Amino acid sequence: MRVQRAAVIGAGAMGSGIACVLSQCGIEVLLKDVEQAAVDRGLGNIKKMFDSRVKKGMAQTEADKLFALVQGTTSYEDFKNVDLVIEAAFEEISVKLDIFKTLDEICPPRAILATNTSALSISEIAAATNRPEKVVGMHFFNPAQFMKLVEVIPGVKTSDETVKVALELCRDMQKTPVKVEECPGFLVNRVLFTYMNEALYVLQEGLATPEEIDAKVVEFGLPMGPFALFDMTGIDVCAHVNKFLYSQYGPRFSPSPLLAKMVAAGALGQKTGAGFYLHDKNALKGEAKKINPALQEMIAQANKETASTSETKPSGKAKGFDALRVILPMLNESIYCLQEQVVAADDIDIAMQNGCGFKIGLIAMAKEKGLAWCLQELTAYHQAHGERFRPAWLLVKLVGAQVHDFSELNKKPIAVG
Ligand SMILES: NC(=O)c1ccc[n+]([C@@H]2O[C@H](COP(=O)([O-])OP(=O)(O)OC[C@H]3O[C@@H](n4cnc5c(N)ncnc54)[C@H](O)[C@@H]3O)[C@@H](O)[C@H]2O)c1
Repeated sequence: MRVQRAAVIGAGAMGSGIACVLSQCGIEVLLKDVEQAAVDRGLGNIKKMFDSRVKKGMAQTEADKLFALVQGTTSYEDFKNVDLVIEAAFEEISVKLDIFKTLDEICPPRAILATNTSALSISEIAAATNRPEKVVGMHFFNPAQFMKLVEVIPGVKTSDETVKVALELCRDMQKTPVKVEECPGFLVNRVLFTYMNEALYVLQEGLATPEEIDAKVVEFGLPMGPFALFDMTGIDVCAHVNKFLYSQYGPRFSPSPLLAKMVAAGALGQKTGAGFYLHDKNALKGEAKKINPALQEMIAQANKETASTSETKPSGKAKGFDALRVILPMLNESIYCLQEQVVAADDIDIAMQNGCGFKIGLIAMAKEKGLAWCLQELTAYHQAHGERFRPAWLLVKLVGAQVHDFSELNKKPIAVG
């Protein structure tokens, strides 16, 4: 099936971006929200997206024609004719279950129902319908009109045909889809948050300042450092994700208490004017970033808590900050994903590059350095810092088998267990 008519539920940040990319490949789109004001805001944002395309060379007539493919609505009335719906409403399971139940009643039997959830269970959402084989996760990255990656996540009962249609649609939208098996955090957030969390421990240990850590990581090949990213994403959102991943994966994701201290103090990042850095709207372009003066006290409070938990192991002998300290947890988590057969080895670097702008490939790095080197480094960090660095069993097994890199996994899946 080729998608010709689609609907997007939720005209917020993600929904408007997704509606824009759908219309850009000639698909008619219904953009639905609960109130007309929200619909109008969403349409206004899409208009701005097309205006900026015109500034970059798109013909005005073409932009007008594509924008006209998007129709705003507050009702489900016209959903009888859609081939596919992408839901991008609030990240609350009760909201999503209600929406999918309604969609199942209203949409034609052929329609595929996709969710852009960041972390909720695709299988649970699918179970609210009588067509779980037609429900799939399509996880876009923010801003959806620019970021290339879409994680396509089948639920337990999703059919291969549904996955195929979702993958084809992504390619039609000029996106880079990666198929990811359902697991908490899916692929990119699961991998990325090991690095974000480790950066907090580095800060707590006083090995470097937020600017030093950010600068070193950028030098290593990431588009921005962890603290700039924390402030941009929102400390409250990150604290929630950290807590969720810990609840699902245990000690490997043991969260630094620092984020909770910052949330309690209202230091939520750019949106409140202060996070790790101060965000002064009147600051001149190019002006050096200023560290939040309240940060030191919050670090001291977090350190008291870290010292009293058994799962974390602050390093006794600080020796400055090596970017590997925050990069290796991502590599290790990628290997855990391979071990669980969440994703194909080749897709990990594609996903991190297109979802987060990584210039370095984690799997490419493992290939260059060799798996024995990866295990040796992770083992040393594991001894120094505890469970957050426990090497994935697959890595131990491959090194034992004298396998140099993951390319052999592409030839035949290596059974684990
Ligand atoms: N913002 C991100 O960085 C990001 C990235 C990837 C995925 N997501 C996911 O995308 C979804 C939307 O996130 P967002 O940032 O666009 O949120 P948002 O708050 O900007 O927009 C959500 C919109 O959904 C509308 N809405 C709520 N309930 C609705 C309903 N029953 N019917 C129709 N519309 C409804 C709201 O009025 C609002 O306009 C969430 O599931 C989120 O986890 C967000």
